[in-house]
Amino acid sequence: MNTRKFFPKTFFGRSLVIILIPVLLLQLVLIYFFYERHWDDVGRRLALALGGQISYIIKTLEEKDFSPNDIKIQFKKAESNFLISSSWYPEEGLERFGQKEVTSLLDKTLEKSLAERINYPYTFDTKLIKNQVIIYVSVNDGVLKFSVARKNLYSSTIEVFILWMLFTAIFLLTLALYFMKQQIKPLRNIILAAEEFGKGNNYDLKPRGAFELRQLSRVFIKMRARINNQINNRTLMLAGISHDLRTPLTRMNLQIALLGDKNASKNLGDDVSEMKEMIDNYLAFASGEKEEKIKNINIYKLVKTLCEKDIIYDSKTIKNKVTKDVHINAKPLAMKRALLNILSNAISYSKNIVEIMTIKNDNFLNIVIEDDGKGIPKNKREKVFKAFYRIDESRQSASANTGLGLTIAKDIIQSHGGRIVLNASNLGGLKVEIMLPIKA
Ligand SMILES: Nc1ncnc2c1ncn2[C@@H]1O[C@H](COP(=O)(O)OP(=O)(O)OP(=O)(O)O)[C@@H](O)[C@H]1O
Ligand SMILES: [Mg+2]
Repeated sequence: MNTRKFFPKTFFGRSLVIILIPVLLLQLVLIYFFYERHWDDVGRRLALALGGQISYIIKTLEEKDFSPNDIKIQFKKAESNFLISSSWYPEEGLERFGQKEVTSLLDKTLEKSLAERINYPYTFDTKLIKNQVIIYVSVNDGVLKFSVARKNLYSSTIEVFILWMLFTAIFLLTLALYFMKQQIKPLRNIILAAEEFGKGNNYDLKPRGAFELRQLSRVFIKMRARINNQINNRTLMLAGISHDLRTPLTRMNLQIALLGDKNASKNLGDDVSEMKEMIDNYLAFASGEKEEKIKNINIYKLVKTLCEKDIIYDSKTIKNKVTKDVHINAKPLAMKRALLNILSNAISYSKNIVEIMTIKNDNFLNIVIEDDGKGIPKNKREKVFKAFYRIDESRQSASANTGLGLTIAKDIIQSHGGRIVLNASNLGGLKVEIMLPIKA
């Protein structure tokens, strides 16, 4: 049997089960042993005593041959000494009396114990009159009826004990529940802080709760500060380099315009444009698009403008299979850059065909971009997301590629709470799957 299916998934649920199971088991064992054993013992003794008293009354009646006078005397004695009220039904049989079924614990005890003391056919009724137990004994062609108060045969202390036990258990469990909830809160806060940090937001996390949880919060806060510091340093450095390079590039562009040789200046101009493109990439990476506001974007329109305006391609075919009314909440420029990077990869590394489509379910929108190129071998599908990583350096060294396209795309998608996965495409090349939460 798979116990995992029945075991709660959350930390809170599991802790609850860990507390609840021993408490319940303890209660069940206590109730079983005390209640069953106690009832058996006390109930049996009380029933035996009653049986003894009844057989004593019958014996004294037999000694006087059931004379009506003696019956009266004995019945009075039974009433005052044993608190048993009795009646005599001459010339009657047992068939008319007694209950048919044995149901309660009391019934069972009576059935077992009375037989040990009363040597005549008998039957009993615990249901006929409330809080009364009636015993019918068939003697001397008649039936003797004895009734006693139920409480003479029944100890109720055990019920009070069980009630007390139940109430204290419920009270203690509620207390435990409350304190456990308080313990889980800081853990939830840490999860929230980590989630927000992953999306590039800052969540004010205060170390709270148990020692280990406070320690975890502190370690997390320290780690977050270190990472933020690193990101800032990297950003500053990249922004500095890019900024410094832009000025000489602009100057070079001007100087090229003044050059005489048309062919040479065109080639030089192309090189400078490529360098400018690279630097724009660095700057985009450095600025991180943090300031942008989230808006509702129509993915179909976005892909359309990308294909029509932003991407330079000639002989290749792009099949835009995006459903027309797919909307998503995202940062427009960032999302455009991410899609642009992936689409331009698909175009430059494909042979002829690039396909883009969307699949939508309740919580996620999947954007799938496929091409018919060489694809990326399985063992490199993680590495291509690293900054400056490019497969087959020599082949592309002439181009303006920096190896940052996928790094930037992944950064943007993760900052929207999404995921990006690379796989082999049915078209023969690479399949890029972007999964974005719809309510980002
Ligand atoms: N659709 C694809 N098919 C085959 N290989 C790909 C594809 N997309 C990316 N790659 C490989 O992954 C590497 C990393 O891609 P990435 O976009 O990060 O950098 P890049 O395209 O080389 O440079 P740039 O920063 O200008 O985009 C590429 O160099 C390429 O080898
Ligand atoms: Mg690229």
